[in-house]
Amino acid sequence: MKHWTIEQVAWDRFDPAKVDPAVIPLVKAAAMVERNGDDYALYLKSIFKDDPDFQLAADNWAVEEIQHGDALGKWSTLADPSFDYMAAFAKYRAGFTIDTKADASIRGSLTGELIARCMVETGTSSYYTALGEASDEPVLKEICRLIAADEYRHFKLFYDHMKRYLRRENLSFPRRLRVALGRVGETEDDELAFAFHCANDGPDVPYDHARCSAGYMGRAMTYYRFRHIERGMGMIFKAVGLEPRGKLSAFAARASWKLLEWKRDRFLRALAAQQLLPRAA
Ligand SMILES: [Fe+2]
Ligand SMILES: [Fe+2]
Repeated sequence: MKHWTIEQVAWDRFDPAKVDPAVIPLVKAAAMVERNGDDYALYLKSIFKDDPDFQLAADNWAVEEIQHGDALGKWSTLADPSFDYMAAFAKYRAGFTIDTKADASIRGSLTGELIARCMVETGTSSYYTALGEASDEPVLKEICRLIAADEYRHFKLFYDHMKRYLRRENLSFPRRLRVALGRVGETEDDELAFAFHCANDGPDVPYDHARCSAGYMGRAMTYYRFRHIERGMGMIFKAVGLEPRGKLSAFAARASWKLLEWKRDRFLRALAAQQLLPRAA
């Protein structure tokens, strides 16, 4: 059951004069990853084959993720009428495949899989909050707010199931932490960089991970503020079983913010070297 529909969005309020050109490539790329939620649900249903409750939850989750892709894709088409959302997505799906028939989680355990899902939902919840708050364009602001609320609910969904599996599998704290940090570290892998390529490069431009990763991450990181990292860190701490609002979480948030600033500037220098610098940091 969806919490909102695409038809409810006030698309007629779209204001091209308020579109930040730097955000368009990010929204196009995000649409690819979100739209791929249906294949991810097949993977989840395959590894949770003995859990019909979770399989149903995964189906409902995928319907919402697909809607995120469609809303972001529709906004991208308004911002750039030359953008062909479904053609770009077809290219993405052909090049970034998920093992939809897996019989075991790539995270080594079902608890680990659910912790990894919590990390992804923490990331998307923070990201759409940051993007929506930074945007002056009213429709993008509205869809980012709706999507961020869904992502936070998804975090809670996977967290609740994770607690159930934790009782059963008893995954140790170091192993939970390793899965969580591992998934956060994958942000710079191909999923987003390849989505950036499919959504933004012309047909003759080959995929180049370093260029596309800088293209995506350099732009995306400029939208974060410390409060987004602070809140996200609380969610990460909760998912691995640590106190979400303690001194350690506050320290980790400050350290992560410093790391984000350093990485953001490094990516922006790479973009400047490509003469693609979108906006001041
Ligand atoms: Fe989403
Ligand atoms: Fe989500």
